[in-house]
Amino acid sequence: MTERKHSALFRYIERLHGERPWGAVLDAGTGVNSIRWIAGLPTDRWTAVTGSAGEAARVRNAITVEQRPQDRILLGNWADAQLLKDEIYDTALADYLLGAIEGFAPFFQPYLFSRLRPLVRSAFYVTGLEPYVPAARPENRVERLVWEIGRFRDACILLSGGRPYREYPSPWVTDHLHRAGFVVRKVKRFAIRHRARFVNAQIDMCAPGLKSLNDRALAQALSERGEALRAEALEIISAEGALRCGRNYVVAAEPE
Ligand SMILES: C[S@@+](CC[C@H](N)C(=O)[O-])C[C@H]1O[C@@H](n2cnc3c(N)ncnc32)[C@H](O)[C@@H]1O
Repeated sequence: MTERKHSALFRYIERLHGERPWGAVLDAGTGVNSIRWIAGLPTDRWTAVTGSAGEAARVRNAITVEQRPQDRILLGNWADAQLLKDEIYDTALADYLLGAIEGFAPFFQPYLFSRLRPLVRSAFYVTGLEPYVPAARPENRVERLVWEIGRFRDACILLSGGRPYREYPSPWVTDHLHRAGFVVRKVKRFAIRHRARFVNAQIDMCAPGLKSLNDRALAQALSERGEALRAEALEIISAEGALRCGRNYVVAAEPE
């Protein structure tokens, strides 16, 4: 997710939130984009949670000036029942957290919203990506290319021993929010325009894993396949400005 795509989602959340105070804010799956947004809001305090030490360091570097004494960056895992036990926040954000759970707590996705429910007093915002990798092979050239890039990326991550993200559709999110004791107020989808930065990030993230493969012929073949996908995608982007494919979503909910 780029800053530009993120900012449209965050502006939408600000419009939905309106004049209500943000109060104490929980960034339940933090990253540079969400923390920069939250640090710029008139909050009483915020807590930013990540499962990754590297992400915690990036977040810390991104907001050196904005962080106040009452603001916290926490390294933890939502699968740990003790994490933020008995704390409560006026507003909570799960920004691309659900899709990333697979990498940190596989099989925990159906329990995530119930786990977060006691921590939310007034407003809960979930952002995510409508899944496209599990779909059948698309007919349309651009959609097929984005699907191929996604499958290539996930195949490389699996072969090198990692766990790819697993995205969930917005109806799954609304259903599980209901089950967890939330009322869903709004669901909005945003069309995605993938640019060169997205393509390069997807292909480049495969390189370290491919370097570690024992089968060097396979690594070489995959690396060439990645470069072919990159070249095709960048050619379309330079002709058409972007790969128009897929949708992000925002789901706004409140405790029942
Ligand atoms: C894709 S990133 C979120 C993007 C981010 N909000 C941004 O600004 O770009 C997912 C975040 O959720 C965290 N995460 C994923 N699973 C987690 C878990 N089980 N417990 C705690 N944090 C988790 C990751 O460590 C990471 O910080």
